[in-house]
Amino acid sequence: MTASPLLEIHGLTRHYRVRTGLFGPRHEVVAVEGVDFSIERGEIVGIIGASGSGKSTIGRLLTGLDEPDGGEILFDGARIDGLSDRARRPLRRRLQLVLQDASSALNPRRRVGPQIATPMLRLGVAGSREEARERTAQLLGLVGLSPDAAERYPHEFSGGQRQRINIARSLGVEAECLILDEPTSALDVSVQAQILALLLELRQQLGLTYLFISHNLAVVQSFCDRILVLDEGRVVENVAARLIGRRAMAPATLRLLEADLSMSPVPGVTS
Ligand SMILES: Nc1ncnc2c1ncn2[C@@H]1O[C@H](COP(=O)(O)OP(=O)(O)O)[C@@H](O)[C@H]1O
Ligand SMILES: [Mg+2]
Repeated sequence: MTASPLLEIHGLTRHYRVRTGLFGPRHEVVAVEGVDFSIERGEIVGIIGASGSGKSTIGRLLTGLDEPDGGEILFDGARIDGLSDRARRPLRRRLQLVLQDASSALNPRRRVGPQIATPMLRLGVAGSREEARERTAQLLGLVGLSPDAAERYPHEFSGGQRQRINIARSLGVEAECLILDEPTSALDVSVQAQILALLLELRQQLGLTYLFISHNLAVVQSFCDRILVLDEGRVVENVAARLIGRRAMAPATLRLLEADLSMSPVPGVTS
């Protein structure tokens, strides 16, 4: 048994140099600044914040799609920032990013089955094509799709079904931790609730850990164990989900709470 958290972030910082217009002056955008948090195994941590507060940047930094300017990222006790592609390979399997737009993650011209099976073969989770095919059928069942989905193309599915395919693909490589960046934001409310229920079930069955990025406080509140509120790249709140709104909150949290009051609750995921 290890005592360290699955994911540990210290002082994570990412600034972007951007130019206003083609010849305009350069200035620095603070996307993420001095972010600290950790996630225990099996925990669901939500990151919430207004648009532009740095949520997606954190997701990209954690999965190596972008490198931080400062700070440390530890996964299962080992540094994972600044790794070469080769050194990151075994990690790509364990830590997976699931994005909002499932269709952009899927190749429209390939059947679903091979898209789930190929990463398994490439990352060495399946030893043969036959094994990969079998696992694919099992995974499709696990995410609530029929095995013949493997023979079909992404456009033959609804948005919610495509997100299920996407999740199956992450699970195919035996991911331990999913970074979910607004995974349900493009879906309508009832489909959103079904995907959240599926994610909860999968966590239970497979012992997964989630970092769940959202701009919707009601969703995060019902789905997550703990919530981080991000404001202009900084963590301004780190609190148990059930305590949100029940004690003094940062101004950014209060703004999210207010925005929420004008929105309808999500059916099926009441806390
Ligand atoms: N590749 C990039 N180049 C320049 N600025 C960026 C880049 N990615 C993000 N930003 C800026 O960093 C800030 C945080 O963006 P992001 O992480 O996408 O926020 P969120 O996901 O919370 O909406 C924003 O001001 C955004 O414009
Ligand atoms: Mg984003």
